[in-house]
Amino acid sequence: MLNISRPRRNRKNESIRRLVRETQLTTNDLIAPLFLKEGSNLKEPILTMPGINRLSVDELVKECRELYSLGIPCVALFPAIEEKLKDQKASEATNPNGLYQRAIKEVKNALPDLLVMTDVALDPYSSDGHDGLVDPKTGEILNDPTLEVLAKMAIVQSRSGADILGPSDMMDGRVGFIRDALDEENLINVAIMSYAAKYASSFYGPFRDALNSAPKLGDKKTYQMDYANVREALREAYLDESEGADILMVKPGLPYLDVIKTLRDNTTLPIAAYNVSGEYAMIKAASERGMIDGEKAMLEMLWSFKRAGSDMILTYFAKEAALVLNK
Ligand code: PBG
Repeated sequence: MLNISRPRRNRKNESIRRLVRETQLTTNDLIAPLFLKEGSNLKEPILTMPGINRLSVDELVKECRELYSLGIPCVALFPAIEEKLKDQKASEATNPNGLYQRAIKEVKNALPDLLVMTDVALDPYSSDGHDGLVDPKTGEILNDPTLEVLAKMAIVQSRSGADILGPSDMMDGRVGFIRDALDEENLINVAIMSYAAKYASSFYGPFRDALNSAPKLGDKKTYQMDYANVREALREAYLDESEGADILMVKPGLPYLDVIKTLRDNTTLPIAAYNVSGEYAMIKAASERGMIDGEKAMLEMLWSFKRAGSDMILTYFAKEAALVLNK
């Protein structure tokens, strides 16, 4: 007999594979991003994201009820704002009676235990389609004036019942600025999941279709990160942690597993991966054309985030994955 090491013994059948499995994927790990839109009884398909709809608030509440009953602990809301309400100051972002704030209230009223995560950035409300305020003369994205708007958004969202705020704007200093603003208003129990390492990515394309929020001029490279960098992700993560972030996010997910792993090795905070719209669309498109098995590819991809070290995953596959995992 050959005296060789035989790792295959631990792969012999499904039972032994279950015993030695190093990471788990459960519905506890999933955050479902949802798109909302003004109206009622509305479920408007997003063509670049098969299976995902823009929902009116009544339909949103129904969807949340279903997700919660499937075991999903958290939803992340993104509003498709009517073009006529967009302006250069993103005024609608801080409207206490705006669509977004009403949606948060309705969901929390119906399902107090479902966590509601919000998006803190100007792009859905900005006629410029940027995450920050734009200098009309130079086109520069203005950092410090943007912080004031972000803090107002944070407060109005928190007062509407948000549990977790997600600053996705990548302005410098925003986590600390938002934390201070919340604490001054005694909103001490509202958490911040910072988009710590958010890269300037082409994988956001379908999301920008969903919200019609693509930048009118230029790109987001002066605030979102250069995909060539990983030490810089660590710098952003340290800053956000020191400014009071409760959870750190890496976004996109799949092309940035090394970034997730680097943060995992360097922080004790929980880590989230954002499995973004383009990653969803790739799998959907390939499986619709019969090129891959969509369900298996979905699970493999979601698992890779857990293996890399994320504790939770924002994914448009949340419901589909929950249905498979609950089987
Ligand atoms: C913008 C924001 C974006 C996403 C979440 N928040 C797009 C962008 O930065 O242009 C992308 C999410 C996705 O693609 O699924 N603040």
